[in-house]
Amino acid sequence: MTIWNLGSINADHVYALPHIPAPGETLAARSLTQGLGGKGANMSVACARAGGKTKHIGAIGPDGAWMADRLRAYGVDTAAILTLPGPSGHAIIALDDRAENTIIVFPGTNRQIPPAHIDATLAGAAPGDLFLTQNETNHQPEAAFSARLRGLRVAYAAAPFDAGAVRAILPHADLLLLNEVEAEQLRQATGQGPADLGLSDVIVTLGARGSVWLQGGQEHRVPAPRVTPVDTTGAGDTFTGYVLAGLDEGRPMPDALALATRAAALKVTRPGAADAIPTRAEAEAFHP
Ligand code: ADP
Ligand code: NA
Repeated sequence: MTIWNLGSINADHVYALPHIPAPGETLAARSLTQGLGGKGANMSVACARAGGKTKHIGAIGPDGAWMADRLRAYGVDTAAILTLPGPSGHAIIALDDRAENTIIVFPGTNRQIPPAHIDATLAGAAPGDLFLTQNETNHQPEAAFSARLRGLRVAYAAAPFDAGAVRAILPHADLLLLNEVEAEQLRQATGQGPADLGLSDVIVTLGARGSVWLQGGQEHRVPAPRVTPVDTTGAGDTFTGYVLAGLDEGRPMPDALALATRAAALKVTRPGAADAIPTRAEAEAFHP
């Protein structure tokens, strides 16, 4: 089947600095590293690297052609990525010697995707396909609704947390994925915990402590292997992409979670976002 991911595509500009600049301070960076990021792109890469047939729905500017090329190189179908006047979404990441960071995200074309393009693309989906989205684009609630009507299974990674988006999308979601912080934000915003939402499956990720899958009133804990973290950027995105690809293959959730846990642990040992997401062969061979 196919995984349709409506999501952001960002150019990550990572500036290594002796410390995070204070208000009013001017500071020279030691180095600049550029890579592919954005939660949407990361998840598409993870789905594809895990072996899932993945179609990304999104938009870039003329400055972002390299990002579509790179998505394609990682196995993502980019036919539904539009080029708009731009600029593309990007992130300015200040990273200090202690690995603390401050991030400015400019959504750019990620929030300008024409709704008619999204709807027309989803018209090509078939019942049993998967639909995935996050909170970094536009038109997600409507797209989730239309995907559901077409018989797709709807997965929603509620990140970055947005109370309005969550309220609008949850009624159309089958699977919700969120980290601990987002689970707490959900509680604050709705008064409901992840288990009280009436969804068939909820997965809460717990960083180095692994994850918990909530299903039918049951809690299944999945521990994470112990690794030495180098960069946790995109850990959750890698995990989500691998879970979706596993489900798309028809694997039971515990199997999908086991491989996703390995892939995400391997990701945190590598610097970078989408470019650092392991292939399936690497994830399967990883025994820390
Ligand atoms: P996010 O990246 O969205 O903040 P988490 O930090 O919860 O999400 O990480 C997602 C998943 O990545 C975790 O459930 C776990 O499987 C894996 N992971 C994250 N950090 C580590 C770590 N330090 N060691 C091993 N696995 C990790
Ligand atoms: Na993380």
